[in-house]
Amino acid sequence: MVLIEGVTLMNDYTPRPEDKFSFGIWTVGWQGVDVFGPATRAPMPAERAVRKLAELGAYGVNFHDNDVFAFEATPAEREERVGAFRKALDETGLVVTTATTNLFSHPIFKDGAFTSNDRDVRRFALRKVMDNIDLAASLGAQIYVAWGGREGAESGAAKDVKAALDRYKEAFDVLGSYVLDQGYDLRFAIEPKPNEPRGDILLPTIGHALAFIAELEHPELVGLNPEVGHEEMAGLNYAHGLAQALWHGKLFHIDLNGQHGPRYDQDLRFGAGNTRGAFWVVDLIDSSDYDGPVHFDFKPPRTEDDKGVWASAAANMRNWLILREKVRAFRADPDVIEALAQARVPELAQPTLAPGEDWRSVRDFTPDIDALAARGAAFEHLDQLALEHLYGTR
Ligand code: GCO
Ligand code: MN
Ligand code: MN
Repeated sequence: MVLIEGVTLMNDYTPRPEDKFSFGIWTVGWQGVDVFGPATRAPMPAERAVRKLAELGAYGVNFHDNDVFAFEATPAEREERVGAFRKALDETGLVVTTATTNLFSHPIFKDGAFTSNDRDVRRFALRKVMDNIDLAASLGAQIYVAWGGREGAESGAAKDVKAALDRYKEAFDVLGSYVLDQGYDLRFAIEPKPNEPRGDILLPTIGHALAFIAELEHPELVGLNPEVGHEEMAGLNYAHGLAQALWHGKLFHIDLNGQHGPRYDQDLRFGAGNTRGAFWVVDLIDSSDYDGPVHFDFKPPRTEDDKGVWASAAANMRNWLILREKVRAFRADPDVIEALAQARVPELAQPTLAPGEDWRSVRDFTPDIDALAARGAAFEHLDQLALEHLYGTR
């Protein structure tokens, strides 16, 4: 299968259903509107996105309510749009893995939704989410993403952050009880982001969100949807963040894309940003018990026409599969296994105290300090092996 014109593929990187690749409807549907200019591409009805993504080999989709029907849609228009979406899903077999709510585009959400200073906006936001939860449940979604797009501020006095967090918690408590009362099999995944479109966004990183979840009434219903670009905008190591989310049992979903360090949210296709970081992300997920969708939340750059949109979309999956081949080769390489041992990586899995020991056992522990200080960690050789797998020389 040739995905990029003029490029003959050496390997079979064909996406398969078991790869569980999924896309936001809004990703390929992004018309290229940015703060400096209008759309460069035509609108894309959700059903077209579904059909084209299925052709490329995707397994599932995520959608905002207003990716399918307009905010202003009448009940009849909504029904027609949802019907077309549902029909495309049925005909292609694409799965709705995930759904979410647009709580950031309409002017009423200019100061946020769950944490808007305006109580009516907050009450309406809850209603809008419940409406779409009903649709999500009827389409079989099991994860409901909550990205706090405009939950934040540009200036200090405008937002009482502690009150905002009270209201944020209240929203998840109310929505949790809604899901339980309706008997839906649905869990929430909070998507942290440090800034953009607000100057500062609440729950800016994985760590902030994890601490917040612990304060909720139904913490078991709420986990995380970390995005590559958002953690890297904050200068953080995405793979480390994912590992900690997994450690807490909170990695409910992932938003994969590409980013080059702290700057505006680039939403590049996966693998096109920090490649070395992407290698470790694939390594972590491939060897973890995460079994949710391998979800791409990218934006085909504004420079691309319709053909470019699909080339960009397909490349997300292709880059995942290329990197997966590389991380598997890295893990299977006998030189790597030896280098891991030299670097004492397996030793870290060994508890510091032996069974039956307590603090008394190490209270007077005195190793050979000079020998320990002189001992090299042997990490450079190990990392070079990884790089050589990534660069294609091994
Ligand atoms: C971003 C965000 C969004 C959200 C999506 C779900 O790039 O800032 O990732 O794309 O993921 O809108 O609500
Ligand atoms: Mn983003
Ligand atoms: Mn995202």
